[in-house]
Amino acid sequence: MSAPPMDGYDRRIDYLRISVTDRCNLRCRYCMPAEGVWKLGHEEVLRYEEIMRLAAIAVRMGISKIRITGGEPLVRKDILYLCANISRLEGLKSLSVTTNGVLLGEYAEKLFSAGIRRLNISLDTLKPERFFQITRVDCFQQVWEGILAAQRVGISPIKLNAVILRGTNDDEIEDLARLTVDHPFHVRFIELMPFRPQEEHSPSEFVSSDEILERLSGIAPLQPAAGPEGNGPAVHFRLPGALGTIGIISPITHHFCAKCNRLRLTADGKLRTCLFASEETDLRQLLRNGATDASIMETIRKAILSKPERHSLERPFSRKCISRPMFAIGG
Ligand code: GTP
Ligand code: 5AD
Ligand code: SF4
Repeated sequence: MSAPPMDGYDRRIDYLRISVTDRCNLRCRYCMPAEGVWKLGHEEVLRYEEIMRLAAIAVRMGISKIRITGGEPLVRKDILYLCANISRLEGLKSLSVTTNGVLLGEYAEKLFSAGIRRLNISLDTLKPERFFQITRVDCFQQVWEGILAAQRVGISPIKLNAVILRGTNDDEIEDLARLTVDHPFHVRFIELMPFRPQEEHSPSEFVSSDEILERLSGIAPLQPAAGPEGNGPAVHFRLPGALGTIGIISPITHHFCAKCNRLRLTADGKLRTCLFASEETDLRQLLRNGATDASIMETIRKAILSKPERHSLERPFSRKCISRPMFAIGG
């Protein structure tokens, strides 16, 4: 395995997020329209053999961390087969999955057997009726039981992602944080990013990480903490005596582009070097035209060198920021 590739701004690129599907069994308001979405055709989506080949090439290039995302990755048939295969790649230090938790009750143990030890799970509220209001599906209890199932089978760390929206769930900041007292969960508060069309994002819905921190310090003094291992964008704190930690992710007000170590592969085989970029590199075409591993590596290397220095999103969100919606990139 080689040393991780460096980009044009001296950042070490060692993390690949692979989206396996653009489909989802929820319809979170900050992510998808109610009526559903552009659906990729069967032929457009990378086959598992294609994903595995790219994952193996990436690991040989020095990528040591892979995350499987969606849409919702657990809705793709035979996802455990993919996880088990990727987890066996020599040189890979960490394989994790980001899920909405709906199918976790059924999948927790099987994911563990397939080599998954780390999960990030979306959880924006602890109130069943509000869960329905945010995700448009009434399954809070199912998700909560899925989270507990993941804990029971030994998955660790478990990171819970909460996107905070003023007027929707900002009154739960304290309760979500208090979950970390008795559970070894890492609750991460995420600033809303403008992925839905401009007219659906009222600027007043945005809650900054500074405001979230101020609210949290009203519960108890927050102690800076080491996060769960990993190199994500969160800054961590702990409530006194708590089993878990609180993470703050501020993509908008304190962007972490200078430390960004990520590449993204979309379900239709496009390599993206920035969540917000409009440029993509078509790896599917290379795969399907008989390209050698060496030429695929060269293409990936070139893309890495063109990774932008930072995103240029400012508040108030003045424009719809990206060419693809979040569910088609994978968060
Ligand atoms: P881990 O450390 O591996 O857990 O990574 P992570 O925290 O990025 O994983 P997760 O999939 O849970 O992502 C959490 C949130 O961080 C995402 O929903 C985004 O809101 C934000 N995020 C992740 N990657 C980026 C990025 O490259 N740029 C920006 N601006 N935001 C990101
Ligand atoms: N802003 C911030 N985070 C988002 N996510 C999805 N859409 C947005 C958005 N518009 C988060 C979800 C999920 C993660 C993969 O991405 O909370 O946990
Ligand atoms: Fe599905 Fe995740 Fe988008 Fe919610 S945020 S609709 S769970 S892809």
